[in-house]
Amino acid sequence: MRDINQFTITDAVKDSFKTEPGSRFELLLQKLIDHLHDYTREVNLTHEEWMGVLTFLYNSGKISTPERHEFILLSDVLGFSALVDMINSRGGATEGSNLGPFYLGDAPVKPLGADLSDGRDGVSVLVYGKVTDSLHNVLPGAIVDTWQADASGTYPIQEQDQGQDKFDLRGKFTTDDDGRYYYTTVLPKPYTVPYDGPVGELLRAGNRHAWRAAHLHYIVRAPGMNSITTEIFFENTEYIDNDAVFGVRKSLIAKVQPVKKPGEMGFKLERAPDAMCEFDFVLAPEG
Ligand code: BEZ
Ligand code: FE
Repeated sequence: MRDINQFTITDAVKDSFKTEPGSRFELLLQKLIDHLHDYTREVNLTHEEWMGVLTFLYNSGKISTPERHEFILLSDVLGFSALVDMINSRGGATEGSNLGPFYLGDAPVKPLGADLSDGRDGVSVLVYGKVTDSLHNVLPGAIVDTWQADASGTYPIQEQDQGQDKFDLRGKFTTDDDGRYYYTTVLPKPYTVPYDGPVGELLRAGNRHAWRAAHLHYIVRAPGMNSITTEIFFENTEYIDNDAVFGVRKSLIAKVQPVKKPGEMGFKLERAPDAMCEFDFVLAPEG
């Protein structure tokens, strides 16, 4: 390996790993080395720039905690998270979008028609729709697990020190015999991703804002089907065309419309809504 230079080093590094031939790990590692080396040669990376990258990664690790994962945020603002979602979305199923940092697996189970807002200020909206498979067969007993920010753009989990309950504005609903889910909540507002750390510096250096378009988060599951993690956005709202984490997809934009009489729609609701928003989820079979 004495005859190593800037062109032969890539193969030397790849050959130094004794991975199982043909394995997925081998592919991931070899391609990573190829692309990182190509990038480095292409931009003629300087020592200062390389040290800048390493310091950025070091600082990202230093600010990270179990609740604040700066590397996920980095992946989000660079569009990696969105790209992985896109690559892994199944044809015919609802497109995937950001999980974000505020999901809680043990959110309370709520009855259909429940109000998630707990009397909070804001536009009360009826959110409803069906869960089906890609052939439009309804899926009774599917779980619609949702969480969201309030009408000021804050998740209650972020304000536990101000007496907020982390389980507010979230819940799990089970679809009825017609595959329907329905509940009321307040329309969320846009909010910023955390920008007081290295990722914030990167956004500022690139003249980018940190705002997310307002959204509702969902994980939808049903036996025998691939679960989906996704978000619903609202037509004609702020940041819909420049969401900081590239979460918006055309197919995930819903309309907020004047409300019909819930009784006419066959819904029994805990709170009378000011508006309504319909969105159907489509799951693809496992395998
Ligand atoms: C969120 O949607 O909750 C979120 C997504 C990415 C970064 C920060 C927050
Ligand atoms: Fe969110």
